[in-house]
Amino acid sequence: MSAQPQAQPRFSDARLEEIKALVARYPQPRSALLPVLHLAQQDFGYLSLETQQMVAGLLDVRLMHVREVVTFYTMFREQPCGRHLLEVCTNASCMLNGSGALVRHLCDSLGIKLGETTPDGMFTVTEVECLGACGGAPVVQVDGLYHEKVDTAHLDEIVRQGREGGAA
Ligand code: FES
Repeated sequence: MSAQPQAQPRFSDARLEEIKALVARYPQPRSALLPVLHLAQQDFGYLSLETQQMVAGLLDVRLMHVREVVTFYTMFREQPCGRHLLEVCTNASCMLNGSGALVRHLCDSLGIKLGETTPDGMFTVTEVECLGACGGAPVVQVDGLYHEKVDTAHLDEIVRQGREGGAA
């Protein structure tokens, strides 16, 4: 996926102070890249190319290095996502326990393809690599919270709650 253009992002002064303190913990500014990217995603919703350029400038690293990190980890997003992010683990244990059927069910019931967001901006469905909770396979991460041993009825309930405005 390529990054969407975004108005020039800018961290707040308070956030810049936080980043300064973070950077001071490491021998080199570049070592703070992962936590700074997390903060950027938290503040701007996703990591546009402009945001990645800003982070590269702040930490004095090449944009290519930032892009390598952003595109390697599935927890970083280069596109805006819906109000609720549903991340289905499709790695080995989850796949063997039916995550493929969960992805199909979710996409069919929401009328979108994997990686897309519903037209009302409510839900985005993505697949992710192993979430480290294989004993609970299949696992779906919903807005950062793990749901284990998920079945289609559980997914329907998650979507229903999300539509009603509660935590999905
Ligand atoms: Fe899904 Fe490990 S394979 S959590």
